Amino acid sequence: MGLLYDGDSGQNPLGFFKQFLAHPKEVGAFAASSKYLADTVTEVAGVPEAETVVEFGAGTGTITQVLQKKLREDALFFALEINPEFVEAFRNCLPGLEIVEGSAEDTPRFLRERGRETCDSIVSGLPWAAFDEPLQDRLLGAALDSLRPGGKFATYMYISSVVLPSGRRFKKKLESRFSKAGRSRVCWKNLPPAIVYWAEK
Ligand SMILES: C[S@@+](CC[C@H](N)C(=O)[O-])C[C@H]1O[C@@H](n2cnc3c(N)ncnc32)[C@H](O)[C@@H]1O
Repeated sequence: MGLLYDGDSGQNPLGFFKQFLAHPKEVGAFAASSKYLADTVTEVAGVPEAETVVEFGAGTGTITQVLQKKLREDALFFALEINPEFVEAFRNCLPGLEIVEGSAEDTPRFLRERGRETCDSIVSGLPWAAFDEPLQDRLLGAALDSLRPGGKFATYMYISSVVLPSGRRFKKKLESRFSKAGRSRVCWKNLPPAIVYWAEK
């Protein structure tokens, strides 16, 4: 049984917190997302209509559990996660769904390996405000290279991060690099509360 999987609820909050302490810049959050935040981010990413869906930074799979219920029966889905402990927890919790241990920077290659040139929807749990500018650029570039024209991207940022220079820079990048972008309502039922951002290629 893994550090992040308790076998009953499938999620171990203490394990998530320990990963945050060990890799603060990569994990970027002390707790997994709530199902309310997961519901908003998956709706604005257009998951219910999408044929190909990719999740960036799936962690232990809290957003994925909600996303899974909205997936079309014929949809191709895979999640990307860079932390091997999280990958193990995800596999224990959601054995029927594919998770790839790797960086979201390599999404175009992972799509090609699954016979797709592009995807319709990207749901991101990446901690954008914790990333430096070159990494934000590479990850957003990978999202843009992977989405079909009109494809949807959705992510979230904690309200405490929205005012940080890195958070503001990320929002500006979304607005300048996608053809449309906006923000959704604040999700108060999350620790910490978060704002959902959406963009369309
Ligand atoms: C804030 S946590 C979100 C976890 C989960 N999606 C949730 O909302 O509860 C961010 C996740 O992104 C992962 N991550 C960070 N950089 C990544 C990268 N370049 N590619 C894939 N995953 C990454 C971290 O390991 C961590 O699991």
